[in-house]
Amino acid sequence: MIRARITGTGSYMPEKILTNFDIEKMVDTSNDWIVARTGIEQRRVAAEGEYTSDMATRAAERALEMAGVTAGEIDLIVLGTITGDYPWPATACIVQKNLGADNAYAYDLSAACSGFVYALSCASDFIQSGRGKKALVLGAETLSRIIDWTDRNTCVLFGDGAGAVVLEATEGDTGLLSSHMHSDGSYLDLLYQPGFGTRHMPSAETLEDRLPYLKMEGNEVFKVAVRSLTSVSLEALEANGMTASDVSLFIPHQANKRILEATAKRVKLTDDQVYINVHKYGNTSGATIPVAMDEANRAGMLKADDIILLSAFGGGFTWGSTLIRW
Ligand SMILES: CC(C)(COP(=O)(O)OP(=O)(O)OC[C@H]1O[C@@H](n2cnc3c(N)ncnc32)[C@H](O)[C@@H]1OP(=O)(O)O)[C@@H](O)C(=O)NCCC(=O)NCCS
Repeated sequence: MIRARITGTGSYMPEKILTNFDIEKMVDTSNDWIVARTGIEQRRVAAEGEYTSDMATRAAERALEMAGVTAGEIDLIVLGTITGDYPWPATACIVQKNLGADNAYAYDLSAACSGFVYALSCASDFIQSGRGKKALVLGAETLSRIIDWTDRNTCVLFGDGAGAVVLEATEGDTGLLSSHMHSDGSYLDLLYQPGFGTRHMPSAETLEDRLPYLKMEGNEVFKVAVRSLTSVSLEALEANGMTASDVSLFIPHQANKRILEATAKRVKLTDDQVYINVHKYGNTSGATIPVAMDEANRAGMLKADDIILLSAFGGGFTWGSTLIRW
């Protein structure tokens, strides 16, 4: 049986660090409040003139280098993002050009914070079907540009960054064992960016209403996030006849430490089974999981035959999980 196996990981985080103490000077908040409610201590912010495609390209270069794969060998590039350089064309096409991945076709995937696990699922299906042998899967975001920096309810939560993995066809027992994706559009207005799609075009009025910025009902999102992450994590384990004790490392979407802890408890995972880096980067949407995977991988935490569980939840709502034998 052909499976897709991750043979390289890479990430790129912008240099600039914005701490909670910096944000204290911008809105009515405090380091204590942010740490207690979210676990976030700081986040990275892209430099002026630094774009999602730039960060994604750097992350991809690092993943390709680790895998020992050249850009020309890549058949497919899928980028999970909601903050691409342009509404269209796809930022993945810019990454393709930057890398010189001349034999790949490239597209963006819009599933908010679930963008990376959705993209991983698409690329895995592509490889399993035999249509190609090597794919690049990315999650990259410049959320700092769609954050309302006057809204304390949201501006403390998010950050910028990029992560990437190289997927290759393999015939062994290792690789992606299964993927489980879900959506529910009825929750759209709990977490979304009202402008500028074609529903709300740029105008003095839409700018005045701050429509180009992310809007969120945090409290409601929190409850559904815990419920959905729990159910989709259990779904992946059940589909493979496994239980929480089989998991070597759970790498969830990093939105809020309290969400991760509540989910881990419900899935019956212990603290040392859960990878958390939200304190350093905040919520980088589609980038959180590949960045965390790359950190864990480079720290030697992902070993042969380990069972790795990835779960994500985001705007849409979208949610999904993937179980991997490393
Ligand atoms: C946003 C979030 C941290 C708020 O925490 P919470 O415990 O739910 O807090 P509440 O929304 O109940 O707000 C409590 C109070 O804190 C205030 N508050 C909100 N943001 C604040 C901030 N940055 N600093 C200080 N006070 C703040 C609110 O105004 C509210 O005040 P009030 O009671 O006087 O009205 C939390 O709901 C959350 O993380 N939600 C999920 C968000 C998320 O992860 N989204 C992406 C999913 S992919």
